[in-house]
Amino acid sequence: MDLKPETFARIEEVITHYPTKRSAVLPLLHLIQEDAGYISDSAMEWVAQKLELQPINVYEVVTFYPMFRRKPIGRRHIKVCRTLSCALMGGYRTCEEFKKEFNTGLNQISPDGEVTIEFVECLASCGTAPVVMVDDVLHEKVDCAKAREIAAQIKRKAEGQKG
Ligand code: FES
Repeated sequence: MDLKPETFARIEEVITHYPTKRSAVLPLLHLIQEDAGYISDSAMEWVAQKLELQPINVYEVVTFYPMFRRKPIGRRHIKVCRTLSCALMGGYRTCEEFKKEFNTGLNQISPDGEVTIEFVECLASCGTAPVVMVDDVLHEKVDCAKAREIAAQIKRKAEGQKG
């Protein structure tokens, strides 16, 4: 499985926090998704082996919890809040703007491979709605103009990394 050495180290450490290995299944899956962006079939098999479980046990956990993704995502992950305050303040329009900017739909990888845009529930910053997270960074009061600015920053950074 292709993960950063730090992730493997964290996995080893997390397992020691539990009296029985199998109890570490959720934290391990979170660590893998944080690093790889999604949970692949080989990741599930790897976790099963690591925790002395059957692959079906891990598969059941992954498919039960909606926060686990089964497909790869773009290099950057744009999460647009769609809960009440953000929805009322224009979150849906913000999302449309991102989709237009990256020429993509929801939950897909944009044609340039750069982003995946997703709706999420409340990001606990309702007073500054509409709110968007790009990877781990929270952006507040993201109207359409600000969405275009954020998109431009992402594109500039992507260009910089190519050159
Ligand atoms: S409703 Fe969007 S952050 Fe709470």
